[in-house]
Amino acid sequence: MSLLTQLGVRYPIFLAPMAGVTTPLLASQVSEAGGLGALGLGACDAFQAEAAIRATQQLTSQPFQVNFFCHRSVPLDPVKSQAWCQYLSAHFAQFEQAVPSQLIAPYASFADSPELLDVILATRPAVVSFHFGLPPKSILQVLQHAKIPYWVSVTRLSEALYAQQQGCSAIIAQGIEAGGHRATFDPLCDAGLSTQQLLQQLAPQVSLPIISAGGVMAGGQINELLAQGASAAQLGTAFITCQESAASDSLRQRLATATGTQITDVISGRPARGVIGRWQQDIDSPLRPPHADYPYSYALAKQLDKVASAQGVTDYQVCWAGTGVTALRPLDAMPLMETLITELQ
Ligand SMILES: Cc1cc2nc3c(=O)[nH]c(=O)nc-3n(C[C@H](O)[C@H](O)[C@H](O)COP(=O)(O)O)c2cc1C
Repeated sequence: MSLLTQLGVRYPIFLAPMAGVTTPLLASQVSEAGGLGALGLGACDAFQAEAAIRATQQLTSQPFQVNFFCHRSVPLDPVKSQAWCQYLSAHFAQFEQAVPSQLIAPYASFADSPELLDVILATRPAVVSFHFGLPPKSILQVLQHAKIPYWVSVTRLSEALYAQQQGCSAIIAQGIEAGGHRATFDPLCDAGLSTQQLLQQLAPQVSLPIISAGGVMAGGQINELLAQGASAAQLGTAFITCQESAASDSLRQRLATATGTQITDVISGRPARGVIGRWQQDIDSPLRPPHADYPYSYALAKQLDKVASAQGVTDYQVCWAGTGVTALRPLDAMPLMETLITELQ
């Protein structure tokens, strides 16, 4: 049975889960249009995650995907994080703010949050997907027992084979063009494959349906990926500026005027692609100290953005986007879906 038939979805157009950007309205509009909607819940606690899933279920009876981060948690390294805070202190100082003396993880890994598993079991979304790896076998067995399918984002063959062995029902194959965090299980091991190269490597070797992600902005690109063996394409950047997203006005403006993107690990502590700003230009300098670990760095980045934005400076904003950002179309979710469907046909 094809992936679309399994899910009960008409078109191979999936919204990428994007923490802080996807909303119940955006997810439901994509699902109502015949694609697969998604909620990025990686930065949510259990209460917020349950509220978002139930709100989406109120808006649509169609299936949608929910997504969590599944990074390996590390304790705060006080020496490294203090050196990182010290390095960023001059940036805080220009806004007459002291750099924080303590860093905290802004959210936990799904693997360490049994209450998030309870939310999944209580709300039963059509699919749960994971970024940065899979939870341990004991959690996967609970999902299997509850008959809730799970996917994971992969960036290379060994991760895909592991996903297959761990009972995933599909894989999201994320190419280097993708906006947001690289899905690599180990951030230090990145094969750097493009969306097409990755699909070409995986298609003959993996028996699971493959959902290609990274740099896809138009229906013609989706057709090309389907012709090379993908079951669907997952689009993030293309949907960020839809009216239904949670993107702020200043974020929309930066995306509309973006000329390029770059991958850096100084914002969150893990490599991620975004529109070039102060983080990529100045902070990720060749002489910088090692950044604090993920996600402690992220807490500091968000704080610096907050103090800068309060004084009208938006260059510190975290502005994740893929290489396709310059092909963004100023359309809301329904017209964008209609356009993509027409291009597909
Ligand atoms: C703003 C933004 C936030 C993202 N947040 C998440 C997330 O929370 N979880 C996740 O699995 N992937 C996340 N991603 C990555 C997407 O799932 C997907 O790999 C990517 O958007 C595909 O590339 P594209 O942006 O070029 O379409 C994010 C991407 C963007 C652009």
